[in-house]
Amino acid sequence: MFNPYKILLVGCGKMGSAMLRGWLAKGISPTNICVIEPHSEDVSLLRSDLSVSVLSSPEELHADYEPNIVVFAVKPQGMKDILDPYCGDLTSTAVVLSIAAGRNIAFFEKIFGVGAAVVRTMPNTPAAIGRGVTAACANNNVNPVQRAACQDLLEAIGDVVWVDDEALIDPVTAVSGSGPAYVFLMIECLAHAGVVQGLPLKIAKELALATVAGAGELARVSDETAETLRVNVTSPGGTTAAALEVLMAEDGLGVLMDQAVEAATRRSRELSG
Ligand SMILES: NC(=O)c1ccc[n+]([C@@H]2O[C@H](COP(=O)([O-])OP(=O)(O)OC[C@H]3O[C@@H](n4cnc5c(N)ncnc54)[C@H](OP(=O)(O)O)[C@@H]3O)[C@@H](O)[C@H]2O)c1
Repeated sequence: MFNPYKILLVGCGKMGSAMLRGWLAKGISPTNICVIEPHSEDVSLLRSDLSVSVLSSPEELHADYEPNIVVFAVKPQGMKDILDPYCGDLTSTAVVLSIAAGRNIAFFEKIFGVGAAVVRTMPNTPAAIGRGVTAACANNNVNPVQRAACQDLLEAIGDVVWVDDEALIDPVTAVSGSGPAYVFLMIECLAHAGVVQGLPLKIAKELALATVAGAGELARVSDETAETLRVNVTSPGGTTAAALEVLMAEDGLGVLMDQAVEAATRRSRELSG
């Protein structure tokens, strides 16, 4: 691991703030972190009394500043222009960690050179509460110390899974990157179905949200698999069995989920570059 960390965080919006909050909570000294954010006055975390140095552009960095990790947490659109000023000394010895959706390792190697150490990641929105899951893929230039540092920094926003084959980032995007939206839809659909059966909307929403959150947490902390937990709550001939007969039919949720994840994987491939 780097000792000390010298982290340059480029972009401090939703994801960048979540990471910064996690790093500080982990005990990383704010004096080891520099943030580049053009509109820092709009970022509530940066308005609080932190000793993180906040600059509005890389031109304001000291000429001899040498980060050991540069985290790009900016939108993928227009990213080449944002990255260009970081070519050269700033990134020649640092590991570049990107959380940008759809920007592949080759994209960064083209900008920073084929010798650049690059880690491409795909986090998801529960990162905002430290409960995300991030898939990471490193190129061959990333050394074990740099990889351990990336793991450490990403753990501040949740679990971390490494994949060796970058092509897997597309299905990762379809499962965990976009996945929170599927779960939010599940909450909406469950509440709507309750209303159709006569429940007041407010109660249906409360029941659906607490059920999805509680079941998710139970699945997370339990030693049993999701399948076993499902079987355990399904009495033969009971109410859950009646519902699962519909959900698990040949044209049920399994098929729909396959189609949805396939569509998202395809779209992720189309957008990559
Ligand atoms: N949110 C998610 O759930 C999620 C999930 C997976 C991956 N990601 C990836 O995470 C990245 C960040 O997403 P986000 O949701 O955090 O976006 P965001 O909230 O818009 O944050 C991006 C930040 O970068 C700032 N910025 C713009 N130009 C900059 C520059 N030249 N230098 C430094 N900072 C600059 C923006 O400032 P202004 O707003 O003032 O322009 C903004 O504060 C994206 O690439 C996205 O693909 C996000």
